[in-house]
Amino acid sequence: MASQIQPDHLQVAPDHGARHVAIIMDGNGRWAKKRFLPRIAGHRAGVEAVRRVSRAARELGLECLTLYAFSSENWKRPASEVADLMGLLRHFIQADLDEFHANGVRLRIIGNYRALDASLVQLIDAAVARTAGNSGPVIAIALNYGGQDELVRVAQTLAQRAVAGDIAVDDIGIEAIDACLDTAELPPLDLLIRTSGEQRLSNFMLWQAAYAELYFTDILWPDFDSAALAAALDAFRLRDRRFGGL
Ligand code: FPP
Repeated sequence: MASQIQPDHLQVAPDHGARHVAIIMDGNGRWAKKRFLPRIAGHRAGVEAVRRVSRAARELGLECLTLYAFSSENWKRPASEVADLMGLLRHFIQADLDEFHANGVRLRIIGNYRALDASLVQLIDAAVARTAGNSGPVIAIALNYGGQDELVRVAQTLAQRAVAGDIAVDDIGIEAIDACLDTAELPPLDLLIRTSGEQRLSNFMLWQAAYAELYFTDILWPDFDSAALAAALDAFRLRDRRFGGL
């Protein structure tokens, strides 16, 4: 089935104006703990929320939804939890790619995902290539992603180009940096949501968040749904964005 969410379930006017929404999906562990379940159960429920919210993003007319699935700092977690998360990711790509493709979704990855297990990298590359020609919204998944790491990689790329004489130092500006980011060619970030009541960026999209609106909700990620996304977009619609002007 193309979609299980009908537009009349969404409680927001389509004129929210947001093109690109990113989400720090936090609270899986606490969701599980409240139910006396192991943390993996929270992550599994988190994947269900990813499915719901990806469908809702399409219905709500977003051009891009970026999801923080695994940070460059998440390697500090116990090896068993890291393995569980990688397993869920692998299964998600295998199980959900057909639906994404059928709906014209383009899958993108941000972050240094090439450091992941070689077979997972292969799976990801094939999935990204399969959907690359689609014309629908982008679902970007942040894997082994850190905003500082991304900026270090950009600095290295530009320094190498300068040393090779391919770019003048004076030409290294905002546009050149934008074009080297993992998010190159994606729409500017409009709204950054963090669930579970925490109010920090945790190294997510540091450059891209420069003028993003921030939205924090106490909802734990596994409970996040289309109505929660619609509520965030409704709040966004009422924000007065001045980008440093008046
Ligand atoms: C934060 O919750 C969540 C994560 C570190 C992982 C997010 C992963 C998923 C939603 C599932 C995999 C994603 C995809 C795209 C298949 P936490 O564990 O830090 O929660 P806590 O702060 O309550 O412990």
